[in-house]
Amino acid sequence: MLCLGIETSCDETALALVRDGCLLGQSLRSQVDVHALFGGVVPELASREHGRCIGPLYDHLLKSCGVEARDVDCLAVARGPGLLGSLLVGIAFAKGLALALQKPLLGVNHLHAHLLAAGLESKLAFPALGLLVSGGHTHIYRIESPRDFTLLGRSLDDAAGEAIDKFGKMLGLPYPAGKFIDEFAVGGEVDTKMFPKPYLDNDNCDFSFSGLKTAARTLLDSRPHLRFVYDAERLCPVPAESGAEFRQELALLCASFLYAVAQTLRLKLERALRTKWTGPINSILLAGGVAANRVVRQNLSDLAAIAGLPLVVPSPALCTDNAAMIAYAGQLLREQGLRHDLSFAAIPRGQQVPDDYWQDLGYIAPTF
Ligand code: KG4
Ligand code: ZN
Repeated sequence: MLCLGIETSCDETALALVRDGCLLGQSLRSQVDVHALFGGVVPELASREHGRCIGPLYDHLLKSCGVEARDVDCLAVARGPGLLGSLLVGIAFAKGLALALQKPLLGVNHLHAHLLAAGLESKLAFPALGLLVSGGHTHIYRIESPRDFTLLGRSLDDAAGEAIDKFGKMLGLPYPAGKFIDEFAVGGEVDTKMFPKPYLDNDNCDFSFSGLKTAARTLLDSRPHLRFVYDAERLCPVPAESGAEFRQELALLCASFLYAVAQTLRLKLERALRTKWTGPINSILLAGGVAANRVVRQNLSDLAAIAGLPLVVPSPALCTDNAAMIAYAGQLLREQGLRHDLSFAAIPRGQQVPDDYWQDLGYIAPTF
């Protein structure tokens, strides 16, 4: 089965082709350069960029994979959560294409697709405990099958990636700062007491990272020399001060901040395993942009080793937003005979839908 995936939920326009669980190719245009100076994604600019790029990316993908449009068996598009205007560009494009090609179309949950992405590289073992850590969400799921996700815990305010990005912004780094903080932390000593591990004094599996942000603000106010300035000519951040001491202090700060994030994720995941899980579990799935982070990966692989479970994490390129995961999730749903009709709507971030919404509602019955 050849599935075309379309992803436009935030600031990446991406299209990918997946054939029988193998990635044939992807065309991706990141908008990081468009939003970097604004300190976050500007929704209006994001939709405009998606609209500008999606057609050429589609042409490029088909050409580079040597595939004709008529060879595509089904189409999958990120339906949400995400920015409404951005989602609508991808969905409208996908609907037009499905109509023209007369092929089935599936609206895919972007978060579920993140967690299923590892299936492109290794076999997924269900039931699984899933931790999705991205810029907009920090969710723990019980996953019975590719269409059966139960939310066990979620971020109540800032998601982990958002907290990391805001910490980076305080340091004067451009958005998104995650990969810079990751690099600066390499080789840094960890001060386990420098930052609090937030929102642990309870018995739930939810997250609240806003307290960590406040702690970082207070700490950085006392260290004003730890700043970057944006070099508009070289288009990159440069340290306000040079020298080994600055680098060392920065490494300590970033490693300690990431330690607090990673430990919080680990402790809540451990709690989900202990208190929310009943029955056997065959793997832990970790996904989303923050899953590309070295400290997070290490902390969660330690937890998995203690629990005696395999930790399945996609390679870094499949952790951040991409269309391969959308195509793959679409393929898994299509294999179950599912499809949408052309009236399905976008589900933007923040719109409340029932827990079982993504399991059945909105899909129309198998057609074969
Ligand atoms: O999943 P994703 O690409 O987009 C969303 O659906 O949100 O996640 C983006 C987030 C951003 O907050 C970004 O800073 C973070 O993932 N991120 C990282 C790393 N790479 C991306 N955070 C820490 N370390 C990284 N290497
Ligand atoms: Zn994402």
